[in-house]
Amino acid sequence: MKALVLSGGSGTRLRPITHTSAKQLVPVANKPVLFYGLEAIAAAGVTDVGIVVGDTAPLIEAAVGDGSKFGIKVTYIRQLAPLGLAHAVLIAREFLGDDDFVMYLGDNFIVGGITALVEEFKAAGPAAQIMLQQVSDPRSFGVAELDEVTGRVKNLEEKPKHPKSDLVLVGVYLFTAAIHEAVAGLKPSWRGELEITEAIQWLLDNGRTVHSTTITGYWKDTGNVTDMLEVNRLVLEGLEPRLDGTVSDDSEIIGRVVVEEGATVTGSRIVGPAIIGAGSTISGCYIGPFTAIDENCLVDDSEIEYSIVLSDASLRGVRRIEASLIGHHAEVTPAPRVPRAHRLVLGDHSKVQISS
Ligand code: DAU
Repeated sequence: MKALVLSGGSGTRLRPITHTSAKQLVPVANKPVLFYGLEAIAAAGVTDVGIVVGDTAPLIEAAVGDGSKFGIKVTYIRQLAPLGLAHAVLIAREFLGDDDFVMYLGDNFIVGGITALVEEFKAAGPAAQIMLQQVSDPRSFGVAELDEVTGRVKNLEEKPKHPKSDLVLVGVYLFTAAIHEAVAGLKPSWRGELEITEAIQWLLDNGRTVHSTTITGYWKDTGNVTDMLEVNRLVLEGLEPRLDGTVSDDSEIIGRVVVEEGATVTGSRIVGPAIIGAGSTISGCYIGPFTAIDENCLVDDSEIEYSIVLSDASLRGVRRIEASLIGHHAEVTPAPRVPRAHRLVLGDHSKVQISS
């Protein structure tokens, strides 16, 4: 069995972060979301992994390398434009050959891994197997309708305006080579993409077996800031406390806190769960629960909680920041008292809430 990991796409809902970075590399507890997926694939015993990459290929390749640090062998597959999940399968045809494969969306976060799912698929041998989860608003997902009597998948629809159920497709799919015939005949959907949802519907329409497993565990598509912060919170809750950096005597560390080697904390109060990345300096601060500060950040005389700060960012003299995603090399400082005005240099598509 092989794996196909989708790490192309444009990431419009995480702009402006994704103007300069890949959405799959936004860190959760200081580790790119994509890495959790690659670890789950390796844990399921799948080592031959194709990664579909788009414009952000150099960033993904620099972060993942040849895959050896995950115990996998990576083949990069370049997709020239984000033409859809089924398009990614189409261009990966040579890599996939006639093997069974697990397709994993690089921005999806699933607690509990995929080992059980892979085992179930191998044992039952359907043409395809999908994972479903109940959500309150299914309109931005692929939606599955199950037969009331047999419980089997009856119908699938991508991002329907009027969903027929609240069961949506999770971004992990298992396929046999039967999917290639389904993908080959697809036409672009209303949003101009070759939809994997339609390819699975083709399998159903042509009498192939499609199994579904409804999961109740934790799953999030980390495509937007709110979900990203939630996943960050969840992962931080499981943090093993560790103080490898320098923490001064006049600092107070409470609860599950990681201070990485090379980080310095002085005159600060950190209430976990929280993580401070290597090379970061925290002085005179309050760092509140569910905060991940990545490498080489400078946080001085500031208060922040329930936030993600990407590497090389700086916060000086600001209080209080919460529920925020702060990009690489971003600088946050207070405005001068007079004149009472805000001075902003914001990237395209930035979102700022100012209290005054
Ligand atoms: O998250 C689950 C949902 O993922 C499913 O419920 C939907 O049925 C499925 O279509 C998909 O919807 P999204 O609109 O959320 O997919 P998105 O465009 O965010 O792409 C998912 C991942 O695949 C992301 O890591 C980017 C990558 N991608 C996407 C496209 C369209 C590619 O590598 N190439 C592409 O052409």
